[in-house]
Amino acid sequence: MQFQAIIFDLDGVICFTDEYHYRAWKAMADDMGIPFDRTVNNRLRGVSRMASLDIILEKYTGPALSQEEKEKLAQRKNDIYRESLQEMSPADLSAEVKETLEGLRDLGLKLAIGSSSKNTPFILGQIGLKDFFDAVSDGNNITRSKPDPEVFVKAAQMLGIAPEACLVVEDAVSGAQAGHAGGMKVACLGDAAMNQAGDWNMQSIRELLDIVKE
Ligand code: BG6
Ligand code: MG
Repeated sequence: MQFQAIIFDLDGVICFTDEYHYRAWKAMADDMGIPFDRTVNNRLRGVSRMASLDIILEKYTGPALSQEEKEKLAQRKNDIYRESLQEMSPADLSAEVKETLEGLRDLGLKLAIGSSSKNTPFILGQIGLKDFFDAVSDGNNITRSKPDPEVFVKAAQMLGIAPEACLVVEDAVSGAQAGHAGGMKVACLGDAAMNQAGDWNMQSIRELLDIVKE
């Protein structure tokens, strides 16, 4: 087996919170009269909250915004987003994700999270995975978000495993680039898989069980 550890992105890989991110940004953008759709949204995958706001504001034509006003907009989006997260429970962990995680663990692999989100600890608690992972590297312990490799490099360090022995699982093109920049192989789902950004481009997360046995 070429891998000793799997590092999972969170939003859009372990759970469908990518959809909640989209809806919260959409509410904020509609409120401000800024055009925003799912194509723009795909560019926000893996990108930090403030960098996401800057991408959305590319289409903003109103008076210049101060840093303080921008932070208020990001806060407003996060408040809407957190309301959706409140309703999540362990029932929101899909059978395919749960069974895949258990299958990988049974193979003796270390499992970690590598997410740009500062809401990671809260989400893991909501879906019943608070103490499941061997390491959690997230938006709270990084200074540069994907496509910079920092979040994955830190996850590998926390596990004490060399990057070459880590497989990253991503739904974001920026995340796949981050994994590769960190010297890791990448298996993609969703938007990143559609863009052929991975070494493997999967239809279902269950395919990981075969990939790690190659
Ligand atoms: C990433 C998402 O996981 O986290 C991005 O793909 C999001 O869309 C980023 O902007 C930051 O999330 P949060 O929860 O800290 O606002
Ligand atoms: Mg993601």
